[in-house]
Amino acid sequence: MELRAAGATVYQFEGGEPFMPTPEPIKDAMKRALDENKTRYAPSSGITELREAIADKLRSRNNIPAQPNDVIVVNGGMQGLFGAFQSIVNPGDEVLLFSPYWTPIKDLIAHCQGRSVLVPTDEARAVGFEQTLARYATERTRAIYYNTPQNPSGVVFTPEEAKVVAAFAQDRDLVIVADEAYEDLVYDGQHLSIASLAGMFERTITCFTFSKSYAMTGWRLGYAVATEPWMTGLKKATLYSSNGVSTPTQWAGVAAMSIDAKVLAEARGQYQLRRDILLKGLNDIGLHCERPAGAFYAFPDVSRINNDSREAADALLNRAQVATVPGIVFGAQGESHVRFSFSTSIETIEAGLDSLRRNL
Ligand SMILES: Cc1ncc(COP(=O)(O)O)c(C=O)c1O
Repeated sequence: MELRAAGATVYQFEGGEPFMPTPEPIKDAMKRALDENKTRYAPSSGITELREAIADKLRSRNNIPAQPNDVIVVNGGMQGLFGAFQSIVNPGDEVLLFSPYWTPIKDLIAHCQGRSVLVPTDEARAVGFEQTLARYATERTRAIYYNTPQNPSGVVFTPEEAKVVAAFAQDRDLVIVADEAYEDLVYDGQHLSIASLAGMFERTITCFTFSKSYAMTGWRLGYAVATEPWMTGLKKATLYSSNGVSTPTQWAGVAAMSIDAKVLAEARGQYQLRRDILLKGLNDIGLHCERPAGAFYAFPDVSRINNDSREAADALLNRAQVATVPGIVFGAQGESHVRFSFSTSIETIEAGLDSLRRNL
């Protein structure tokens, strides 16, 4: 921000939101709701029309056997996750997080006086998920945070990996907090909701958001699906914080639920094009990067610049005017990496790569 204020061109890769605008039918629905005075209190768990549309979507697209009563409408993925941990974690409880992980999760757990235990995703993939989870679990372990596609690594867990995590949760009587914020952005492999596996609906709180799929980050709209006793916890956390989501926003959500699947597929194609350009460019420059199978982030190894990811991010910014996020903020396993978002224009990606090529 300082560089930009001083007039420099900064190639911005540090963001975390869709580059496209919200689709018109969603905006029209919000305007219509205002014109029709749909501006009064809504039930704090969400309007019936939206909960029904969400339950239909969960059954048809996620294979989660949800009824409207299992759904709560919340202010974005964040409020769903907040309520999920509030309903599960007691002081002293431990939660396993595949790491690198999305930064706020550790704070959401700390807010319940719980403890985050980082489980390196690389180790799980190399050694096996069961063995790795067993190495980090204790008798205080209460839950597993399961984010796929993952922010910041772009990892998409395979159906086989999901099944092993599910079996481990059942074996140890753990609850899963599934975060599927990027469910519609999978380029390689397939998205599988862990709550759809046998015996998992009862022990999983799955958090979704309209933010990424429908380019609605600023609207603050999401939903969680869970059974009891978790749903009561989610309801209390929502009722006594925001008392629900703004009513016209929920009517916009009803319109989003009926957006043609072709629109989502078209957006996915746009992201994939950007991923491929950035991935090739970074690897050509010598910043080794695994192919992100989902989400909209690339997470290259920057140890050739500096093992300290804050120093490396500073170097990218000061030498090449390329803004990224240092990997250490995503946990110890993120060190030596930086996060690039490819949710930006192709021109920005190409200009940023060109600047890296010339200045590194
Ligand atoms: C992994 C992950 N989960 C959840 C969210 C929550 O998003 P929101 O609160 O905008 O719905 C984000 C946003 O960046 C995310 O990256």
